[in-house]
Amino acid sequence: MVPSENPLLDNLRIEPTPGATTLVIFGASGDLTRRKLLPALYSLSRGQRLPARFAVVGVARTATSDEQFRQQFHDSLQEFAKVDARSDEVVRSLQAQMYFVAGELDDPGLYARLAARLKEIGSEGVLYYLAIPPGVYGTVAEGLEKAGLAGTPEDGWRRLIVEKPFGTDLASAQSLNAQLHRHFTEDQIFRIDHYLGKETVQNLLVLRFANGMFEPIWNRRYIDHVQITAAETVGVERRASYYEGAGALRDMVQNHLMQLLSLVAMEPPTEFTASSVRDRKMDALLAVQPVVGGDEPPAVVRAQYREGWVAGAEVPAYRTEPGVAPDSKTETFVALRLKLDSWRWAGVPFYLRSGKRLPKRTTEIAIQFHRPPLQIFKRVSPTPLASDLLVINVQPDEGISLRFNAKIPGTRMQVAPVMMNFGYGTSFQGEVPEAYETLPLDAMLGDPTLFARHDFVEASWALITPINELWQKESGVPPTYQAGDWGPPEADALIAKDGRRWRTL
Ligand code: BG6
Repeated sequence: MVPSENPLLDNLRIEPTPGATTLVIFGASGDLTRRKLLPALYSLSRGQRLPARFAVVGVARTATSDEQFRQQFHDSLQEFAKVDARSDEVVRSLQAQMYFVAGELDDPGLYARLAARLKEIGSEGVLYYLAIPPGVYGTVAEGLEKAGLAGTPEDGWRRLIVEKPFGTDLASAQSLNAQLHRHFTEDQIFRIDHYLGKETVQNLLVLRFANGMFEPIWNRRYIDHVQITAAETVGVERRASYYEGAGALRDMVQNHLMQLLSLVAMEPPTEFTASSVRDRKMDALLAVQPVVGGDEPPAVVRAQYREGWVAGAEVPAYRTEPGVAPDSKTETFVALRLKLDSWRWAGVPFYLRSGKRLPKRTTEIAIQFHRPPLQIFKRVSPTPLASDLLVINVQPDEGISLRFNAKIPGTRMQVAPVMMNFGYGTSFQGEVPEAYETLPLDAMLGDPTLFARHDFVEASWALITPINELWQKESGVPPTYQAGDWGPPEADALIAKDGRRWRTL
């Protein structure tokens, strides 16, 4: 961020830098590394956020020299960096500290070679980034420990970042946690949920707990319901081999939307520390009632996109996308209602929806307040007035808007809703860092606040797994929606049953 006009804002930017660190990327020739991690390292370095002594060791199966890895870094920046990074001093200085170790993940020789490299580099801290499928997390954790690379009190710190998907159901998530915990302690493990790295998501904590005016009204007395939407215009892209076994519920709701829900629903932490924040988020998640198995039919709808039009282009049906089974039942849209059993939220439904090939890319949290108890403007405004609404725009127009009613200027008393808007782009200068910049840096600093804890991940799977199991048992085809529509009519019916509507976005 460049200095702003406002000295108060500059004072807030006391940014710690980690001590000497080596980042070891497992899966160094994969997509995530090329698209996200390497460009993020470049941005961090440009912003002088990386340690003065910093090295990168790429690990992958294919034999690759240090020089070739440095070239791959260069190429990835050409394709994916936010700025033109061709002849940059920053690129050259990072390249000079990049190394490669090749080998099979189950070969002890790989870890011995890695150990030798790390010794040569001699950093105080080592961050292992597992940009590899979850099926081999255990193998790598074990390999590292056996080679003495998981950390001893004499070493500096050793930490592990793991990517999503963290399991496919409760049992597999528990097993992954157990495998990791065999070789690393929980405080060494950083589970990525990239939504937590988004500025707007972090700002939820600030909005709620750095202001005095929201918290008193943040409860059942004032709030009617909450809607959380994560809508995408893209389809399955080239990810069918993963997505076919996942679907919208597991891909988006189990992780990202549950994180958003917990940040909205949590009690105030007593201090801004990882344990206090994560404990309160956990309490909120534990208050969510099971969707399946209660007295009522499960309030959840799934659907799959048919062919249609999105952003002026004709797009194919999910079932005809490359790699998708022609009789696939995988859902590309999900909508559900959650109830929280807590003093704060009893009787306040949380409606969640997420889907691909929807009309607009937008992620938002809408807090819908109750109408005033008395409609004194009934005579001048015969249709019910809009209720107050606070919208947190997570993306793409990052900001917050408040809708309330105002008098229309004129000699008559007429009322209409108006908006008060805060936009990041207008209130703050400089670039907003991406999640893949914020999160690895936090891991280097040893701050797990924005990472998913083992119990959170498991509690979330405990809610999601029975829904999936129910769907697996269902014969028949899931409902469909035309690409470019806001999901199937069943999703509208789900919320209409409660006398409410989805927000039109
Ligand atoms: C990922 C999902 O976790 O999040 C993708 O696997 C999805 O399917 C993506 O497209 C959405 O992230 P964002 O940051 O674009 O909202």
